Amino acid sequence: MEDRIISGEADASETTMEQSLRPQVLKQYIGQDKVKANLEVFIEAAKLRNETLDHVLLYGPPGLGKTTLAVIIANEMGVNIRTTSGPAIERPGDLAAILTALEPGDVLFIDEIHRLPRSIEEVLYPAMEDFCLDIVIGKGPSARSVRLDLPPFTLIGATTRAGSLSAPLRDRFGVLLRLEYYKEEQLRNIVIRTADLFEIEIEHLAATEIAKRSRGTPRISNRLLRRVRDFAQVKGNGMIDLARTNEALELLQVDRLGLDHIDHKLLKGIIEKFRGGPVGLDTIAATIGEERETIEDVYEPYLLQIGFLQRTPRGRIVTEAVYHHFGMEAPN
Ligand code: ADE
Repeated sequence: MEDRIISGEADASETTMEQSLRPQVLKQYIGQDKVKANLEVFIEAAKLRNETLDHVLLYGPPGLGKTTLAVIIANEMGVNIRTTSGPAIERPGDLAAILTALEPGDVLFIDEIHRLPRSIEEVLYPAMEDFCLDIVIGKGPSARSVRLDLPPFTLIGATTRAGSLSAPLRDRFGVLLRLEYYKEEQLRNIVIRTADLFEIEIEHLAATEIAKRSRGTPRISNRLLRRVRDFAQVKGNGMIDLARTNEALELLQVDRLGLDHIDHKLLKGIIEKFRGGPVGLDTIAATIGEERETIEDVYEPYLLQIGFLQRTPRGRIVTEAVYHHFGMEAPN
């Protein structure tokens, strides 16, 4: 799969960069109003009762701020956060080491929790429910199980696919929060906030233009802003105006709706080879030379979200809006 400037996933250098840009408290966090309103109440209530916060599951597409929210929750509760990810925990001992090192009230953040091996999930159940660990010591006939008490903690799990979490694991979260794609105005405010932190000047209209092309995703907004800043510094005086922004985004091949050449290839492929569909996913995969899963998980979600693609029992269909977007005549 190619690197895409409009990908929701973070690349290696971005992870560090994002840490310095990240809002630290709920008040600084822009958007996700329902999630914030819920969290404010749960955090306040837990603090009033002097209890740890219930376990929280955050789910939604990549780049919407799940890790940021986990850090904010820990800050608002006034506790430490320990961060790991599903694929990083390979053996039960790895999880036991992390859990036994927690301080009372701490947050344990597990990113990509749907990728946790099943054998580890089973260690997690009693830890989440009763704050204890059942560990087996010894081998063969002399093996025995010992119960180890843990400090009370809050597990925050993050996943892009709530559906692929096992039901017993999902049921152990008291709070389930779904993050949604951001509105243009919220993204514009995020762009302005980030520009402020970078100490760069940006026109209101330029920030709006970046927001429009960010696919509802703050991580993409901030990435486009950094690329446009490069153009503004090299080709101009550093000030980001609308003309410079349009020029830079054109060169980066990100169109007015945030679609790139891969989206174009997919949509035009369906129009030109299959008269707009319906066409099955496997056929599309073979035509554009991509894996079926990649198309489903990476390429399609945003196109479905903006109503450019429809899933039907007979396959994918491109909608009339796509023909308009490409300046083509829609068939009857
Ligand atoms: N930077 C990235 N996402 C953000 C958000 N939701 N609020 C404020 N700043 C952000």
